[in-house]
Amino acid sequence: MSTSPEKPSSRRSLLTWFSGAALAGSAAISAIANFVFMKPRATYGQPSRYLIGRPDDYPTGTRISVDARRICVVREGQKLAVISTICTHLGCTVGISDTGFACPCHGSRYDQDGNVTGGPAPKSLAWYRVQLAPNGELEVDTNAQVNQGTYYNL
Ligand code: FES
Repeated sequence: MSTSPEKPSSRRSLLTWFSGAALAGSAAISAIANFVFMKPRATYGQPSRYLIGRPDDYPTGTRISVDARRICVVREGQKLAVISTICTHLGCTVGISDTGFACPCHGSRYDQDGNVTGGPAPKSLAWYRVQLAPNGELEVDTNAQVNQGTYYNL
């Protein structure tokens, strides 16, 4: 009975090659996992500065609610302002009414400038800074509140 002689050195080199390949694969998977782990996955909500279109999108004499941004754009002649539509009571989105703004949640009422005229709201609606961006669009910054009655001159 004879068995084919196998060179011990070739089996050893094959096992060494497989071990090396397994080690390299393991290192590659570990490196990818570390990269994925280090990459931040957090989102921080909407940015505070954003563009809302060109001034011509807001004809003079209009009050246009931009629901996605929870703001109201007010245009009077060549002046423009942005008023928050976030109710100062508990944060519902107020709607535009004949007399100003009205909150559907608990009945707060605001006048055209956002002053409280009724309901549980503790303070008036915020006014945000708005200005023309270099590309000609209006840029709102909800981190920058301005005094009530502050309009941007177009
Ligand atoms: S959230 Fe607007 S009145 Fe309460």
